[in-house]
Amino acid sequence: MKRMLIAGNWKMNKNNRETLDFISKLNDLLGDKKYNSGILICPPFSSIYTAGNAEKNNQINVGAQNCYFEPKGAFTGEISIDMIKESKCNYIIIGHSERRAIFNESDELINKKTHAILKSGLNPILCIGESLDERQTNKTEEILTHQITEGFKGISEDEVEKVVLAYEPVWAIGTGISATEEQIVETHNFIRNLLSSLYPNQFKNIIIQYGGSVNKANADSILKIENVNGALIGGAALIAEDFYQIIETAEKSL
Ligand code: PGA
Repeated sequence: MKRMLIAGNWKMNKNNRETLDFISKLNDLLGDKKYNSGILICPPFSSIYTAGNAEKNNQINVGAQNCYFEPKGAFTGEISIDMIKESKCNYIIIGHSERRAIFNESDELINKKTHAILKSGLNPILCIGESLDERQTNKTEEILTHQITEGFKGISEDEVEKVVLAYEPVWAIGTGISATEEQIVETHNFIRNLLSSLYPNQFKNIIIQYGGSVNKANADSILKIENVNGALIGGAALIAEDFYQIIETAEKSL
């Protein structure tokens, strides 16, 4: 069966009370059903302990949106992977385009974080994607090749299955304009193909999520695409009912 991971990236939204409220609603909606798709919510740091320790369906995983690669020390404002682990998180998003653009994160830094996350036994969700200008000037493949080869540098075939790759065209994030089905098919095929040259034994098992204006209306056509193994969802993941609908859609596409 195709691997599938439906993840909510809450960004800088929801305090502790709102987090508990969301979890309680999602719990009720999921009920006792057993899902083959992975389910993940990534609240802001201030709410991950609450989310990780909340009474909830054990199919709801909790993740963080960032981390630092050093284990401890004088890094004001940063959070270590062990601290995140304490909140019962098992995924960490890294290299989101907002972190690359607003906080100047480089591929080198993202690669260091990827290694540290894998070493600690958690799953990195490594985000890649081209800007509008790069797409319009036909640089998409070049940009993605660079982000993947640099981001995956030094990651062995044995550990690569734990890395989730999230393809998020920057121009589709938060704009309400998702990439077209044709663009997603083409780009995900390109990514899978590139992974096949780097990881000839494992490339088929790597989760490649699509992200960028995924919602309950377009989820079906996106999640049905062969090389799409789930979605990284911003806006629509803030509403429990919408997030649940997308999980159900993913489940039906398997
Ligand atoms: P969006 O965000 O679904 O609101 O476009 C996706 C993301 O940034 O991960």
